[in-house]
Amino acid sequence: MIQETIVITQNSLGLAHIAPMGIHVSATGDEFIILPFRPSTTLNNLLETKTAVLNYCDDVRVFAGCLTGRKDWPLKPAEKINGQVLACALAHTELELVRVVDDETRPKLVCKAVHTANHAPFKGFNRAQYSVLEAAILISRLHMLPLEKIQAEIDYLRIGLEKTAGDRELEAWSWLMAVIEAHKASLPLAGVIA
Ligand SMILES: Cc1cc2nc3c(=O)[nH]c(=O)nc-3n(C[C@H](O)[C@H](O)[C@H](O)COP(=O)(O)O)c2cc1C
Repeated sequence: MIQETIVITQNSLGLAHIAPMGIHVSATGDEFIILPFRPSTTLNNLLETKTAVLNYCDDVRVFAGCLTGRKDWPLKPAEKINGQVLACALAHTELELVRVVDDETRPKLVCKAVHTANHAPFKGFNRAQYSVLEAAILISRLHMLPLEKIQAEIDYLRIGLEKTAGDRELEAWSWLMAVIEAHKASLPLAGVIA
């Protein structure tokens, strides 16, 4: 299964780096594979310090924020490893790197859990949170996708968003839509397509 998490790594100087990543979790739940596309600070940091923290987080502003230049989220020290935890995480897992399956495009960083802690209850699924996550993934691929596909997916995702969003989801969505509008305006035929 792939879990959408916030991965926090740090370099050897202790500088933290936050990135949303889809983590492959083994059926037994004890192996976590992080797959960063090169070039990647997460990859560099994990190779350097061999640790990472997976943050399970329902504040989708962190996902949208990281994709739109808002990376200054409150952190606190990890409990068993030298690392940082997202202060708003519902739970987190501290990881150690076990082995690397190298690849020119997307290496596999196989990790094992050394510690997991719960901080707040999971309060159920929300469709607007799904919409924000999917829109954030679109933003991360903006320059690879045709505008028509982006527009069609956003129109669909907006349905669940408008029916179920709270303030956090609306704020996250607004950040993502601003990036899409700026992207549209930057296209050579912007006037014709809009
Ligand atoms: C929900 C979600 C999942 C993502 N999963 C991945 C992933 O598995 N691998 C990846 O390289 N980028 C992924 N991204 C995009 C990265 O977060 C983004 O490109 C980031 O800048 C990568 O930073 P890095 O330098 O730490 O690799 C994802 C984005 C979102 C919103």
